[in-house]
Amino acid sequence: MLMKILSIESSCDETSAAVVEMGGERKILSNIVASQIETHALYGGVVPEIASRAHIEAISGITYEALSRAGVTLDEIDAIGVTNRPGLIGALLVGVNFAKSLAVSRGIPLVPVHHIRGHIAANYLAYPDLKPPFLALVASGGHTSLIEVRSYTDMETVGRTRDDAMGEAFDKVARVMGIPYPGGAEMDRLAHLGDPKAFAFPSAALNDGTLDFSFSGLKTHIINLLHRMEQKGEPYPMEDIAASFTATVVSSVVKKLETALERYPHERLVLAGGVSANSHLREALQAFADKRGLTFYVPPRALCGDNAAMIGAQAYYEYEAGVRGDASLNAFACGE
Ligand code: KG4
Ligand code: ZN
Repeated sequence: MLMKILSIESSCDETSAAVVEMGGERKILSNIVASQIETHALYGGVVPEIASRAHIEAISGITYEALSRAGVTLDEIDAIGVTNRPGLIGALLVGVNFAKSLAVSRGIPLVPVHHIRGHIAANYLAYPDLKPPFLALVASGGHTSLIEVRSYTDMETVGRTRDDAMGEAFDKVARVMGIPYPGGAEMDRLAHLGDPKAFAFPSAALNDGTLDFSFSGLKTHIINLLHRMEQKGEPYPMEDIAASFTATVVSSVVKKLETALERYPHERLVLAGGVSANSHLREALQAFADKRGLTFYVPPRALCGDNAAMIGAQAYYEYEAGVRGDASLNAFACGE
C-alpha cells in the first residue's frame, strides 16, 4: 500500500523530522535534521538534559518544516513513525510525546520504531532493490551490533560490543588528541594522511568464539600511549595514530565478519550507523565483499547519521507487520 509517513527522531543530539513515501518506490519527500553538536562540543560530549531541552525547542518547527518541504499537510499523512528506543531517555520522551500528541489528536496511526532498525532501513531508501535477508553491521556512537536481518521486522543481534561503541572509541581517542566532539569524521580525515602500520594496537575483536567486540581495551591502550608521550614531552604523530587506530578497527570488523558469515551465510552485507560514514571502513568492506562475491550496501553519507527518514522507512515495515503505538506509548533507554 502506498503510504506517506511522517517520522520523528530525537534519540540523541539530532532533532529530525521527515516525510517518506513507501509501498511503491521508496521516496524521501523531506528529511530535516537539526544538529545540537555545536552546543555539546563545548562540554566534550552530549549532555542529556541540554539535549532534551534543545529537542523541546526545535521539534515543532522541524516537523512543520518537514511537512512544508514535502508539500503535504497532516491530512495527507497515513502514519506517524517515532523512535521510542534505545537512546537518551529524556531525549526520546520529547519525540515520543510530540508524535503521540499529533497522532492521537488527528487520529493518525502511530508506529514506534527501534533506532537501530532505523539505521538499517536507511539502506532501503538508498537501494530500491535491497530486501532481507542479509547480515548487517550497525556502528554508531552508542551501538556496535552484528545483526542477522531475516525479514524487515524479524532480526536477531548475533554480536555486540561488550563496552564502548565503535563511534564512542573514535570520539574518545580524538578527544584526548584535542579534537572537538564528535571526533570521528576528523579521525577519518587524519587517517588518510598517516601510516596505518606505524603502531600495532590490540584488536577489538574478542578472541572467545563469540561475535562480540570490545573497544575499551583498544581505546585505553591508545590513551595511555598518548599520555606517556605527552609526559616525555614527545610530540605525537596524530595522523599515524588515527591511521593505525582505524586500521585496527577495520581489521577487527573484518575478522568478526568472516566468522559471522561462516555461521550466518548471506549473500548481502549491509553497513549502517554514524560510523558507516567512515571512508576507510566503507572501502575495506567493499573490498571484503568483492573478494567473497557478496553485494555490499552502505547508505550515502547524508543518511548514515541520525535522521528521521530512516525511521520513516522502518515505520512502514513495522506498520505492515501490525505494530502500533497507542496513547500509552512509552520510551525506553535500552532495548533489543
Ligand atoms: O548514528 P549516529 O549519528 O548517532 C548515534 O546513534 O550514536 O553516530 C554518531 C557517531 C559518532 O561517534 C561519530 O563520531 C561517528 O558516528 N562518525 C564517524 C564518522 N562520521 C561520524 N566515525 C568515524 N568516521 C567517520 N567518518
Ligand atoms: Zn544513531
